[in-house]
Order: sequence, then structure tokens, then C-alpha cells
Amino acid sequence: MTNHLQYDPRDFNQNYPTRSFAYTHDVAKHRLFNLPRLIELAKSMDRDRIEYNSGDLEPGQAYEDTPKIDLSVEETIRQIEDCHAWMVIKNVEQDPDYKAFIKTCLDQVSERLPDDAEPLEDFQGFIFISSANSTTPFHIDAEENFFVQLHGDKSFHVFENDDCKLVSEEAMEISPSKFRNMSYSPEFENRATVYELEAGDGIFVPYMMPHWVRTGDQYSISMAITWKTPSVLRRNKVRFMNAMLRQAGLAQAAPGKKPWADGLKVAAFNMAFAVINPLRKSEKSRRIIRKLFFGRNANYYYNEKQA
Ligand SMILES: [Fe+2]
Repeated sequence: MTNHLQYDPRDFNQNYPTRSFAYTHDVAKHRLFNLPRLIELAKSMDRDRIEYNSGDLEPGQAYEDTPKIDLSVEETIRQIEDCHAWMVIKNVEQDPDYKAFIKTCLDQVSERLPDDAEPLEDFQGFIFISSANSTTPFHIDAEENFFVQLHGDKSFHVFENDDCKLVSEEAMEISPSKFRNMSYSPEFENRATVYELEAGDGIFVPYMMPHWVRTGDQYSISMAITWKTPSVLRRNKVRFMNAMLRQAGLAQAAPGKKPWADGLKVAAFNMAFAVINPLRKSEKSRRIIRKLFFGRNANYYYNEKQA
């Protein structure tokens, strides 16, 4: 059996889950990642799974000042060589072909996990399609991922943040009303590891490790193949509840500092989501729920002109 993600198990064991590391893969020419197939995928996805804007951004871009692209989703992908755009198609595991691909990759990772490692769960995929010289601003992601570069080049800057000096615990709290972009300063680069990725290269990106990315002189296609371990799921639930409590004026300890309080928050989260989740099946109801609970910002990635 071929392993699509070809990493040295010693690199994995030395670095996972807290440090990034580079590897190679054999999926750059896979049939799921050419532009016509990606247009087909984009057309099949609900509009709130697609986010796109101009790629002419700075690493520290404030989301509110992000220029939009005045093209449909389909036209943006069709014209990606010239239209200076950045796009992500989220949750591509909803398409059975991409779901099977993600499962194949992560099953192969699971088979090579050390005996004492946590299981990988909640598989998801995010595909990035961007014009040459596009920037993904500084941000964090609430999952672990194997990032694969599929077409074009990318400079991927990842930042050591163990002391929370670049991104604070408060900034790590999770709320749909928060914009993804985090505040950035050029001095942060002292703590950066920069991976120069070409098609066929990949990196492991740890949970909530800050990063920003810029494409090279060609358009770029890449994918984050993501999962969550039980402890990541738990930290996310606590950070979600902490954001809600902070909004109510009750600042909270970071996950792990007060295990008994974490337990209560996880239980409260599970109860609330058992009620809300069945209502989130359609795009319209998701949009209403986000607006109701988290305000207009939670639907920030809709542009009425594009919708
Ligand atoms: Fe990211």
C-alpha cells in the first residue's frame, strides 16, 4: 500500500503534536485537484462553505479592510491565473470523493501512530485556490492538519507561540463572530519557521499554531487535511464556552488550568449543541442561527454582491 503522505516516522514522533515539520506527498496530480473538478466541487457546495476575496493583502490585514472580488465563485476559479483572488472551499468532506480521499490519507497516518497517541477524529478538508502573489493573513486554526501543496509555490510562515506572546489565550477563544485574521507585527518574524513549498511538498501544522502564507509567481492550489483528537475537541469546547462567558463579562482560565470547570463547560457545550445541531442542516438555518447567537459578524464571509 502506498502512503500518500510520505514522512519519516522519526520526524512525526519527534514533533507531533506541537511542532511543525516538512514531508512530501504524491497527490499533486490527483484527479480531484484540477481546476475543472474544483469548479464542479464549488458549484455543489452551499455558499457558506466558500469564502473568497482579493489576494492582494498584507500578513496583518484587518478583515474589515479586505477588498472583495466582483466575480462569481465559478468565474473566480476559472480566472484564477489573472483575477488576484484568494479562495477557500470549506468542509470538502461533504463530497463523497473528497471524503474518501481524506479518509485514505488519514487512515494511513492513523496506522503509523505511536501506540500511546490519541486517535484522529472528525476528518475535514479545506481547499485553497489562489492567484499568484496572494496572501493568507496571520491566523490560527482550531485543528491539526497535514497541509499539501498541489500546484504552484507557497511560502508558509509558522510561529512558535508556546508562551502566548504572539497570540494570547483570549485570542484563542472560539466564537463564530470573530474574524479569523489576528493582529500581526513584523517583529513576529524572529520566531518564524518559513517553509518554501512546491507542488509535492507538505507540512504538518499543529493545533492553533499561528501562521501566514503567500503564494509565488503562479496560481496555487493546496489543501489542509484536518482532524481533531479527543483532547483538541475538548479544548475547543472549553475555548468556545470561554468566549461566551467573556462576552458576558466573565473572563475564564485557559483549558487545562481548572479541570473541574473545564468538565462543566464541556457538559454545557454538549447539551447546547444537542439542541442546536439538528437545526443546522440547511444553509439558511445556519445563517439565521449564527446571526441570532453571534451577531451579523458571524456571517461576514457573505458578500451580498457575490451570494
Ligand atoms: Fe490556516
